[in-house]
Amino acid sequence: MLGSLLLAGSRMPLVRRAVSGVPLTRKVVDRFVAGESTREAVEAVHRLADAGLAVTVDHLGEETRDAEAAAKTAEAYVTLLGALRELELGDRAEVSVKLSAVGQALGADGDKISLDNARRIAEAARAAGATMTLDMEDHTTVDSTLGTLRALREDFPSTGVALQAYLFRTEGDCRDLSHAGSRVRLVKGAYAEPASVAHQGKADVDRAYVRCLRLLMGGEGYPMVATHDDRLIAITETLADRFERPRGGYEYQMLYGIRTDKQQALAGAGHTVRVYIPYGDDWYGYFMRRLAERPANIAFFLRALGGK
Ligand code: FDA
Repeated sequence: MLGSLLLAGSRMPLVRRAVSGVPLTRKVVDRFVAGESTREAVEAVHRLADAGLAVTVDHLGEETRDAEAAAKTAEAYVTLLGALRELELGDRAEVSVKLSAVGQALGADGDKISLDNARRIAEAARAAGATMTLDMEDHTTVDSTLGTLRALREDFPSTGVALQAYLFRTEGDCRDLSHAGSRVRLVKGAYAEPASVAHQGKADVDRAYVRCLRLLMGGEGYPMVATHDDRLIAITETLADRFERPRGGYEYQMLYGIRTDKQQALAGAGHTVRVYIPYGDDWYGYFMRRLAERPANIAFFLRALGGK
């Protein structure tokens, strides 16, 4: 209930101004966001890479309504990838891109503008030896995002995509994208979606996640298991045994600042663990989704406001 309210609030300008204006918000945001500048993002990459973790970096922003801002976001990724190139991490470095941040929401031309911008980012990623994965946003964008994925994969076949288990359609999308060379990041899903398109209960979402996971682990692509859920991680290991997938045949992904102990434990056990590192000043939507996921985060937020 509280989670749904927070997700609804994440799209209201009034709530955005109120939350962003609270002086201590920034301190709390820092738990989930690596910083505002490219330099801070690269420092976080450095720290995590030194600790044996792979990374995927997200320049924060979404639902851009202006072509200039969309181009600027693409430029920010190109700059970031220039810096990552010097670290020589190869495919242990990746960028995650929200198509709505690079123009998808710009009306009739949105698909073309976001594809052009995504191509620029993919070129820079290739030059850095890195990969790119498309984040998945609300359900109205899925067809457009998968269309862009197909177009990008013609020239950049390593481009990956996130699929959200809570959507009824996703089992079908997993089946379509379980072919050789395909990279799919499976997530539960973080947006407020109507009952007409998405499972609403946690148990139903978890069961849908397992069905999708089985399709991806049993397929020929490269599954990227993005969850902090211990039960789903245990099921992934069972499926890896059943389908004889070696450790390098799939990877785990988790968010910056969440379950860092588990990230280290899995990496220590020889798994590839990739940490999703968001940076930039447009942190509001991302931050509200993280609060909505876990009531304890709201308590943490309120304690910080109270000065504790
Ligand atoms: P669940 O929410 O059940 O959490 C399991 C456990 O993890 C919790 O009990 C808690 O211990 C811990 N945990 C989870 N979230 C936490 C939080 N916010 N704070 C503190 N602890 C927390 N979604 C989307 O719609 N589109 C996308 O493109 C992506 N991309 C993406 C990339 C990566 C790498 C990850 C890990 C996640 C996403 N997501 C996403 C978000 C995803 O849909 C989902 O909302 C979160 O991962 C939380 O779901 P879990 O699978 O972790 O399970």
